[in-house]
Amino acid sequence: MLFSFTLLALVVLAPVSTHNSGTCTLIPHGNGRDDSQQFLNAINSPGCNVIELPQPYTYSIQQVLNTNLQNKVLNVFGTLSFSTDLAYWINNSFMTDFQNQVTAWIVTGSNWTISGGAFNAGGIDGNGQAWYTRAAGFGNQAGRPISLYVVNASDAVIKNFSVRQPQFWAFFVDQSKNITLEGIYVNATNHDPAEPVSNPANGNAGNNWVVNTDGIDTYRSDSIVIRDWTVQNGDDCVAYKGNSTNIQVYNVTCNGGQGIAFGSLGQYPDRVDYVENIYMSDITLRPSVNRLTGAVYFKAWVGVSAGGPPPNGGGGGTGLVSNVLLENFNFVDADEPLYLQSCLTYSSVNVTQYCNTSTLVFQDITVKDFTGTSSGLNNGSVVDIVCSPAAPCQNWQFLNWNVTAPGYSPVYTCTNTEDIGGIPCS
Ligand SMILES: *[C@@H]1O[C@H](CO)[C@@H](O)[C@H](O)[C@H]1NC(C)=O
Ligand SMILES: *[C@@H]1O[C@H](CO)[C@@H](O)[C@H](O)[C@H]1NC(C)=O
Ligand SMILES: *[C@@H]1O[C@H](CO)[C@@H](O)[C@H](O)[C@H]1NC(C)=O
Ligand SMILES: *[C@@H]1O[C@H](CO)[C@@H](O)[C@H](O)[C@H]1NC(C)=O
Ligand SMILES: *[C@@H]1O[C@H](CO)[C@@H](O)[C@H](O)[C@H]1NC(C)=O
Ligand SMILES: *[C@@H]1O[C@H](CO)[C@@H](O)[C@H](O)[C@H]1NC(C)=O
Ligand SMILES: *[C@@H]1O[C@H](CO)[C@@H](O)[C@H](O)[C@H]1NC(C)=O
Ligand SMILES: *[C@@H]1O[C@H](CO)[C@@H](O)[C@H](O)[C@H]1NC(C)=O
Ligand SMILES: *[C@@H]1O[C@H](CO)[C@@H](O)[C@H](O)[C@H]1NC(C)=O
Ligand SMILES: *[C@@H]1O[C@H](CO)[C@@H](O)[C@H](O)[C@H]1NC(C)=O
Ligand SMILES: *[C@@H]1O[C@H](CO)[C@@H](O)[C@H](O)[C@H]1NC(C)=O
Ligand SMILES: *[C@@H]1O[C@H](CO)[C@@H](O)[C@H](O)[C@H]1NC(C)=O
Repeated sequence: MLFSFTLLALVVLAPVSTHNSGTCTLIPHGNGRDDSQQFLNAINSPGCNVIELPQPYTYSIQQVLNTNLQNKVLNVFGTLSFSTDLAYWINNSFMTDFQNQVTAWIVTGSNWTISGGAFNAGGIDGNGQAWYTRAAGFGNQAGRPISLYVVNASDAVIKNFSVRQPQFWAFFVDQSKNITLEGIYVNATNHDPAEPVSNPANGNAGNNWVVNTDGIDTYRSDSIVIRDWTVQNGDDCVAYKGNSTNIQVYNVTCNGGQGIAFGSLGQYPDRVDYVENIYMSDITLRPSVNRLTGAVYFKAWVGVSAGGPPPNGGGGGTGLVSNVLLENFNFVDADEPLYLQSCLTYSSVNVTQYCNTSTLVFQDITVKDFTGTSSGLNNGSVVDIVCSPAAPCQNWQFLNWNVTAPGYSPVYTCTNTEDIGGIPCS
């Protein structure tokens, strides 16, 4: 049985005896009306410790959300449907201080839970198609909001939660500690017939169509657990930005896109990027309507600043990736199963002359029990690690590497590396 309360009623009806432990249930206004204010009111009400948005309701979100969930439980069993008034979001989304990126929903505070009820059930509908159509072929287009930005948060859980058609990255976890995200479903799929779904002539074109629809990026965060995810998208499935430490990832399936990303790193000269103590196991990757460009890749910006400011220019930063264990990866048809770039830019400036300048170090990486195939797009290359001579890669161990390149003899390229074991590098 469902109840609709006004804000006043919510406060008044919250059980007085249990003080601060009331459950408040929202139903949508309907008729295209905006539900964001009643949603914010419930979260901000001291009487509402549990905020329920039941099935089968859809809540129209037409304004940015800034929510402090301190000691709250937020059950989004229905759907938060973010409006497609692109001009509104471009003008009003909250800025982050990373790559000029913006977000539609900030979640902060400690000791909270967000639940969507069951796997592939409640959560967000970002109505991202409007954004994908607008951005076709353009990376990091300004104004596209991250669906859910967890920032300055601690001791919190997001579970059994879906993000369908994210506007940009689905999740960004920043400056946060001890966050668990489990049972998460993300699906960014283009339905605009005006554009090709895939264009193998340009290895990335099929993914560019839903470019920047990362499953999750972590940044300046410690002790994060990612478990039981299914992602379909056209960009990174899970990505570690600078100062991601003590991250554990279990049982993730990535459908199409770019696979698991360490980076991008070294974009900001004044921010040293550490990515340390990363453990991943049971990761499955395969193409979808989009290619799978890689299983795991590592990307460091060029070692000098070039091509203007972030998001598409930058570089000259430094840092360290170390103590990484990647275990039990299974994949099919990865264009380049494992690779490292140390001369990254997203600008159109030719940075080739600076390609040996990155000082970002990648060391103590263990790659264990990888089974899979390459697509053949890169002529049999299965490992292509091109490190910077200013920061040679050190101590990469491949254990039980079982990756084939159907139709080719597998090719392993290791440039500026020291102590690579378990693969026949050339
Ligand atoms: C966490 O929040 C719950 C309410 O959701 C509350 O009962 C509990 O006391 C809080 N724990 C801490 C450590 O504050
Ligand atoms: C966005 O901002 C521009 C410039 O300030 C303004 O002209 C326009 O009306 C705004 N649009 C919306 C939908 O807020
Ligand atoms: C997620 O939902 C499934 C049912 O779909 C349930 O079995 C599981 O316990 C839930 N997980 C969490 C973390 O709540
Ligand atoms: C997060 O905390 C930092 C200070 O540590 C502050 O500068 C920043 O504005 C906060 N961000 C948000 C979105 O609250
Ligand atoms: C991490 O957060 C969980 C709540 O999600 C809490 O139970 C646990 O005690 C926290 N761990 C630490 C080390 O604070
Ligand atoms: C993602 O959504 C598309 C349609 O919108 C569907 O065809 C596809 O199966 C979904 N992917 C997953 C992994 O659920
Ligand atoms: C792995 O995660 C998927 C969701 O992506 C879930 O359906 C499945 O039950 C999980 N497997 C295990 C062994 O927990
Ligand atoms: C990472 O942490 C170090 C301190 O350990 C700090 O100097 C650096 O600026 C931080 N980097 C980022 C991206 O915040
Ligand atoms: C990078 O250094 C290597 C030697 O380590 C050299 O062969 C190559 O030409 C240099 N590349 C550039 C772009 O300077
Ligand atoms: C980029 O610059 C290098 C020399 O630094 C040159 O060899 C190369 O042809 C240039 N590439 C393009 C696409 O202009
Ligand atoms: C693969 O080999 C073909 C024929 O030699 C060549 O034209 C093509 O550029 C190569 N592709 C890659 C990605 O190296
Ligand atoms: C390598 O993987 C194939 C499946 O792709 C499997 O049949 C084979 O047993 C594996 N070999 C080893 C040595 O693990």
